[in-house]
Order: sequence, then structure tokens, then C-alpha cells
Amino acid sequence: MTDSYVAAIDQGTTSSRCIVFDSTGAVVTVAQREHRQIFPRPGWVEHDAEEIWANVETVVREALASASIGPDRLAAIGITNQRETTVVWDRDTGRPVHNAIVWQDTRTGGQLRRLDETYGEQRFRARTGLPLATYFAGPKLMWLLEHVDGLRERAERGEVLFGTMDSWLIWKLTGRHVTDVTNASRTLLMDLRTLDWDEEILGAAGIPAAILPEIRSSAEVYGEARGPLAGVPVASALGDQQAALFGQTCFHPGEAKCTYGTGSFLLLNTGATPVVSSHGLLTTVAYRIGDQPATYALEGAIAVTGSLVQWLRDNLGLISTAAEVETLARTVDDNGGCYIVPAFAGLFAPHWRPDARGVITGLTGYITKGHLARAVLEASAWQTREVVDAMNADSDVALRRLRVDGGMTANELLMQFLADVLDVPVVRPTVAETTCLGAAYAAGLAVGYWPDLETLRTQWREDARWRPAMDPAHRDRELARWRKAVTRTLDWVD
Ligand code: G3P
Repeated sequence: MTDSYVAAIDQGTTSSRCIVFDSTGAVVTVAQREHRQIFPRPGWVEHDAEEIWANVETVVREALASASIGPDRLAAIGITNQRETTVVWDRDTGRPVHNAIVWQDTRTGGQLRRLDETYGEQRFRARTGLPLATYFAGPKLMWLLEHVDGLRERAERGEVLFGTMDSWLIWKLTGRHVTDVTNASRTLLMDLRTLDWDEEILGAAGIPAAILPEIRSSAEVYGEARGPLAGVPVASALGDQQAALFGQTCFHPGEAKCTYGTGSFLLLNTGATPVVSSHGLLTTVAYRIGDQPATYALEGAIAVTGSLVQWLRDNLGLISTAAEVETLARTVDDNGGCYIVPAFAGLFAPHWRPDARGVITGLTGYITKGHLARAVLEASAWQTREVVDAMNADSDVALRRLRVDGGMTANELLMQFLADVLDVPVVRPTVAETTCLGAAYAAGLAVGYWPDLETLRTQWREDARWRPAMDPAHRDRELARWRKAVTRTLDWVD
């Protein structure tokens, strides 16, 4: 097919985008809208799911209009999304019953303590591949059932529906209540081996099964879209990090990528068997194509990387655009002894400490905003180093190079520092939009637009490569200081 295209919707933490791709995997057009971040209390983060849906409709319209493409020229559309963010809506009116609770939100400590007492952390890890952490969707749903008036009774009567953002969008687009295995694997409610909801866990969490979507594969036709996309098959859903792994064509065990967005997420393909981590990583589903067996991944999830740059811009006002962080950081030669550990949502992998809070260490009168900018960038690299160390400890083979993508990979200073602290080459592909590309690839496979994974692999092209150049003794010294700074995020907490 030369005349048709595949589109993808990426519903992310800060914005929603629609990208149209051609059959070579090249970007034809992009449209994007940001949505509000709602912070009702410290540690709480919410989104308005209606606002997000309106933005998704707008970006789809804008993307198609800017390339003069009608829905009849779309072979399929795929969905990718911020994972874990939880929404519950009324089955009849389609109205959300509460703002969506975002993955970064830390309000569910009480729910987690109860799950630990009644079911036990170890059993959760064994069944779901996940630690008990505020990050995941299940405890957020429990919180809603406990705090929204009358919601539990309505859930039991089947009047309301739960979903992560993929479910919400697919329901809005097609009227079907489904999710895919990758998103379901982030709920703490799915058995990683059966790929179905775990009845025992649902019982322990007090979640009525009637509220849950049906779990489907990541690449199949869920239904036909209505509205501006009328008639287009909605043919894939993948959590955004899994979609990026797919877009980077990491189809073989041992291949890994790290995406630098609001947070950063390093995923390693581990093949057909889930590998349980003993070093603080998550076991998750990487993708499942139609009725083929699922492919699994080990994941190092870092909550705050790009959002630390936004914090420097929006909360401290030290830069006016995110890109300026590099210019500011280049005004100095090094960090001046200053380290920032951005434990804004507690610490994720490999620590899993929801009680941790951010610190800036090593402040002296010498420190300028340039040093702070440098410490902001370095924090992304050191957090990646911690995750890579955990991955190397969990798997037999050490990581030999890292494929990267996401907005922050435009930052040359950061990419070089990353190669330096990881001591492996860092490689960026020509199509930086790997998240959308992965969703488009999966949707295209589902409808036969692309024949197979091998064809997709041949479309991957290297754009840039950074090689390690740091003196090993200097790296070790800096790593030791970073680790000391990390301990400070824990030791002042009451
Ligand atoms: O698990 C959270 C992750 O999916 C969010 O990704 O790119 O929207 O920050 P992003």
C-alpha cells in the first residue's frame, strides 16, 4: 500500500499527540496539545480525563487536516499511553466520576499497607511481577472505590467502568471496554503468566470484576472508530514504554531501550518467559501480537527526569524553555560538587521508597544556576546508571549498548554524560518518535499493512552515537557522591 498511512495517538503525562506514519515508518505529520496538571495536595497528581479526550479529538483532526489525509486513507490507528493513570467513568453518560489519578500520585500508602497485610508483598511480586508501590493502577482504583461516594455500590451493579488511558480512549473511540496486556500488567491485578485478572488479588483488594475491562493482545482490531476517524480500525494498544521498545524494534531477548520523557523507563526484552527481579526492577509484558505468545521485559522505571527540567523552568524560573537547560549547563565545566536527587514521587527503581523526598546536596556559595542545571541533567544519567546496574545484576549478560529516545535525547550534553556514566555507547535512531512509531507498527501488523517484525527491523536507522570518554577513577568518585546524595533522600524523613 503506497497511498495509505497508519496513525498513532500517544496520550502522555503532559500532552496528547497524533502522528501519521507512511509505510517506511517516516513521520508524515504531528499534532500535539498539553493538558493541565492538577496538584490538589503535596504528592497528589490528577488529570481531567474529559480534557484529555477533547485534546485527543483535536490533535487527530489537526494531524489529518495538516496532511490533507481523510480517514479513508488510514489503514489503522494505534493507541499508546501514559501507563497506570487511572480513570473510572459512568457506563451510560461516559462522564468520569473523579479526576484521573496519575501514575506519579502517592496517595495510596494506606491501600498498599492493607494489601501487604492481607495478601503479602512477596505474593504480589510472584503473581504480578511488581512490588507494592503507589505507582500502579490497582491501588488507585481501590482509593477511588473507598473515597468517591456510592462508587463501590455502583461498581458492583456494573454501572461504572475502570480503565487506564488506553481503555478510556478505546471506549471513547469504539464503545468497547478493553485494555491490552501491557497496560493490564501495570495494575497489580493481572497474573503475568495467565495474562488474566487474578481473582484472589481482586478479592484481597475488594475490586468487583464487573468494573474491569477485557484484557486483549497489543495488536488486534478492537473495533472501528467513530467521529473524525469514522471507520478506521483501532488496531493496537501498548503502554508508552512498551510501545517505545517496539518502535525501537527491540524484538530479541537482550535488546534494551531507555526513553527520556517526564520520567525515564529502561526496558530489556527478556523473551517468552517473565524474569523475576531480585534487584528492584519490574517484570512486565513487553507486547503480545494477536494470539502469539507474549514477550516479557524487565523494566527500570525512574519517576522524574524530564519533569525535573520542567521544575527548573516552571517552579524555579531559571530557564524559559526546556531546551535552555543545556545552554545554562554549558556555562560551567562541572557540577561544582552539587547533586540533585529528584525524589518528587518518592524513589522508583531500584529503591521503591514512596517516603523518599528530593534533596539538593553540596550547596556552597560557589554554586550558580549553571551548576544547578548541570546537576539536573546529571540526575537523569545517574538514575539510569542505578537501573542499568540492577539490570546487569539481574541478567546474565551485561548491557553492551543502550538505544535511547524521547525529548531529552536532543540534549547532547546529557547524551555524552550518559555514555560516560554507563560506560557503554548510547545510540539514537533517526525516528525519535519511537513511542508513536511502536503503536503504529503494532496497528499496522494487526491489519497486514506491514507483513512481519523483520520488515520493521529493517526500517530502524541510527542517527547518532555517543561513546564513553570519562576517566574511570573520576566516574567512580562521582558515582560514590551520587549514592551518598541518594541516602539523604531517606534519612531525614520522620
Ligand atoms: O509509567 C508511566 C509512563 O508510562 C509515563 O510516560 O512519557 O507519559 O511520562 P510519559
